Amino acid sequence: TSLPALLAAMPKAELHIHIEGSLEPELIFQLAQRNGVAIPYASVEELRKAYAFTNLQSFLDIYYAGASVLLKEQDFYDMAWAYLRKAAADNVIRTEIFFDPQTHTARGVSMETVVNGLHRACVDAKTMGVDAELILCFLRHLSEEDAFLTLEQALPLRDKFIGVGLDSSELGHPPEKFARVFAKCRALGLHLVAHAGEEGPPAYVWAALDVLKVERIDHGVQSVKDPALMQRLAQDRIPLTVCPLSNLKLCVFPKLADHNIRQLLDAGLVATVNSDDPAYFGGYMNDNFLQTFAATGLAKEHAYRLAANSFEGSFAEAGAKRRYL
Ligand code: ADE
Ligand code: ZN
Repeated sequence: TSLPALLAAMPKAELHIHIEGSLEPELIFQLAQRNGVAIPYASVEELRKAYAFTNLQSFLDIYYAGASVLLKEQDFYDMAWAYLRKAAADNVIRTEIFFDPQTHTARGVSMETVVNGLHRACVDAKTMGVDAELILCFLRHLSEEDAFLTLEQALPLRDKFIGVGLDSSELGHPPEKFARVFAKCRALGLHLVAHAGEEGPPAYVWAALDVLKVERIDHGVQSVKDPALMQRLAQDRIPLTVCPLSNLKLCVFPKLADHNIRQLLDAGLVATVNSDDPAYFGGYMNDNFLQTFAATGLAKEHAYRLAANSFEGSFAEAGAKRRYL
């Protein structure tokens, strides 16, 4: 089989997808109409034209605006279901989905509305052969106190998510800011991940590991600047959930050919390929694999390695993990 056919057909796990980042412009307009929410764009085309980003913050501003059309449990279900269908088509058999509850609770939408809608779609995805779980992310531009409040609101729904993460504006919001709330989540037996080293320095990756005690690093591509950190990530088999098209669209790398995914793999790191915010960055899982392989010249051996890494890095229970591998 050809390399593109192998990339498309191979079973894979997605470990870095923000469900609000899967909201396509068409669905934004449909939900705006359904809910009577005004949006400052005249058409789907006009909205899509605004998707020209220069850095993380320029994307986040429009991403949070897009999420403002989500009000009812069914809206969250419809958004997640649309993503899960695309995941199934890309042969994603396991996905661990981030959601940003504070984006919604700040607008008066209840935690239950958010979690119940998303979770029902995850349950229904089993009929498509997709094993889907949720990871609650704290917004790092908000306070740790706000994160504690969010955790408290989510705890009655504890059986509907498997872990917590940390996302939003990285620079100026180091992991240490959330040391106490992550310690509490750890004591509760939740899985822990954090975005680090997307735009931020290696010091943020160190702090995510040593202060927050995360099990995976989201992005982590800036780690190549610190040889001692690279050694630590390789030695402890800490997965990096890398998102090539995201890095391209947010100008972390000038061209996809300049991406350091091969360097990460060659250094023995458990690097994975993921979509991050596919509706905004121009592609779901297989688009990320196909474009990255075409641009960087990765080969079949890298494809097998990336698929194996995705299952190794997943939080699936041990038995399922063995079956995937
Ligand atoms: N929220 C959604 N996508 C994100 C990203 N790439 N980095 C930080 N926060 C995010
Ligand atoms: Zn992300």
